[in-house]
Amino acid sequence: MKPSVLVTRAIYADVVDRLSQYFDVDSNQEDLVLDAAALKARLAGKAGVLANAADKIDGAVVAALPQLRAVCNMAVGYNNLDVPALTAAGVVATNTPDVLTETTADFGWALLMATARRVTESEHYLRAGKWKRWSYDMLVGMDVYGSTLGILGMGRIGQALARRAAGFGMNVLYHNRSQLPAETERALNARYVSKAELLAQTDHLLLVLPYSPESHHAIGAAELAAMKPTATLINLARGGIVDDAALAAALRNGQIFAAGLDVFEGEPSVHPDLLTVPNVVLTPHIASASEKTRRAMANLAADNLIAALDAGPKAGHPPSVINPEVMARRR
Ligand code: DGY
Repeated sequence: MKPSVLVTRAIYADVVDRLSQYFDVDSNQEDLVLDAAALKARLAGKAGVLANAADKIDGAVVAALPQLRAVCNMAVGYNNLDVPALTAAGVVATNTPDVLTETTADFGWALLMATARRVTESEHYLRAGKWKRWSYDMLVGMDVYGSTLGILGMGRIGQALARRAAGFGMNVLYHNRSQLPAETERALNARYVSKAELLAQTDHLLLVLPYSPESHHAIGAAELAAMKPTATLINLARGGIVDDAALAAALRNGQIFAAGLDVFEGEPSVHPDLLTVPNVVLTPHIASASEKTRRAMANLAADNLIAALDAGPKAGHPPSVINPEVMARRR
């Protein structure tokens, strides 16, 4: 008998077909949002799950599902998973790094440009019929070329963002848990600074650090007050890294110039104050959403699930494991 797996949300039909070669697949192709109770109920008796970043798989879920052996996120971020609980229970956890790096960095750049140059605000202005004549100060923004880019979190995506800055003649500063090797810094033309220096000197601050209890509200009222009034802030990482209420107040008070947000605390809800300030560009968590990348993410998540459940050509060797000690214990 084939093991049973759950695919928690709709994905590409050919990926479901591929999983079906190895498993009995319960696939939520109706794309219903499964709350915690529904997720637990549908996971009962399943050996694995292809999940997404909104599926919270915490200690209570893990404890209720003793047959679960693999949780494969279709996302690089995995703050939705209680990894220590999964590891303790012998459940392999995987994510989808690398395949989304460049697409996410492209989008970070799109959000940065739209924010600094007021692209969405300009479009709303035009659509509302307010454009009656040219004027020297109409919708003026902040320069990107030649300015200082700050990156908080210098992992794969942070580095891809830094590489793009070369074309804009930017001075690149970064802060990270650990400093990059000198050779990498040279290649990226990026300088390591303290978080305080980053906040004080940056013209455009990109957030690409992982969410954890330590990074919760890494940007709050105090950090926003430390930024230049001409600065922009872009959150590509996760909701909760920015205190959205404090950000809305800082945008309204002109404490910073503008923000671009792809992720939100409590998404898909958005803090109501962010919906009423004009100087913020809002997008619904789409940084990795290109056709090619989303397919690559789905396929990598499927490869991980197949291999983690000891099937397919990579049986026992899932390509991107978060807790490799679990696979090692199984061998
Ligand atoms: C990721 O891969 O972590 C993206 O944010 C999509 O959830």
